[in-house]
Amino acid sequence: MARVIACADQRSLSLGDVVAALNDEAFDPTDEESLASAAPLLKGLANNRDFLAEIAIAELKDRCSRQSLENRYSSQVIMLHRASEKYFIRANFWPSPRDTLFKTSGTSPFFYHVPHDHNFSFLTVGYLGPGYWSEYYEYEYGDVVGLPGETVDLKFVEKARLEQGKVMLYRAHRDVHNQLPADDLSVSINIMEASPRLPFLAQYEFDVKNCEIARILNRSSTEALLALAANHGAGNARDLVENFANGHPCDHVRFAALRELAGAEDDVDAGLAVLGRGAASGNALIAGMSRMEMTKRELHRGWIEGRA
Ligand SMILES: [Fe+2]
Repeated sequence: MARVIACADQRSLSLGDVVAALNDEAFDPTDEESLASAAPLLKGLANNRDFLAEIAIAELKDRCSRQSLENRYSSQVIMLHRASEKYFIRANFWPSPRDTLFKTSGTSPFFYHVPHDHNFSFLTVGYLGPGYWSEYYEYEYGDVVGLPGETVDLKFVEKARLEQGKVMLYRAHRDVHNQLPADDLSVSINIMEASPRLPFLAQYEFDVKNCEIARILNRSSTEALLALAANHGAGNARDLVENFANGHPCDHVRFAALRELAGAEDDVDAGLAVLGRGAASGNALIAGMSRMEMTKRELHRGWIEGRA
């Protein structure tokens, strides 16, 4: 399961202390031991019982202008520090079923009951409350192709919660958790790996009952833009999409380019021929995704051709 890192440190650190220490060039959040070495800093920040409320009040007085600029998450998150492409620090609020927010918003905004891995590593500490629960699993990323419905050797480890002061390290592409509601409103603080490469790395939702990949959770904006490019009037951007389909370093982007080229064809069979190139690929992800897309198009042929 995610690594629990024992930290008995009782000293209290300011956010500025932690940021100054993490800005040391030697800190590398992509390296497990380097990230683990930041555990005493995060514990020290959690020992500081005032800083988060002070930041929240300051943000409210400033109409949350910094959050508007720097926070790409929902209101569940307060962005505490984002200054480099290497890492950022955030606070997360975890409502319990008794909280009004939970009753009005349901579970999905908080990712409860959505078993998933992460395409980044992060360090977390329980800051307030009893902490969210998780059922923890592990898997070998290198053993899966990444296709929805693919069987995965998910190993259940334990059910535990992120109690106040408990520090854990979640390993990218290895630790899976089915996150469950906290018994009372709780807050955690994270030091997150940040990198421009993250949108190109897959994050999966799992079906833990059947030990399968349920779906790929993340999509890069490149994939969305390919749909526009493939359908651009007069086909002027088609060469760009072809280039992506043939040579982009990310498998998901190469498949997305093929899918959009196929979708831009007026004729279903012409689209299937484009996808056939992918199905014949030596790359297992592109071949598998192309075959799935071909099946889908055959199934909906009538609707695509305007007959259904
Ligand atoms: Fe998670």
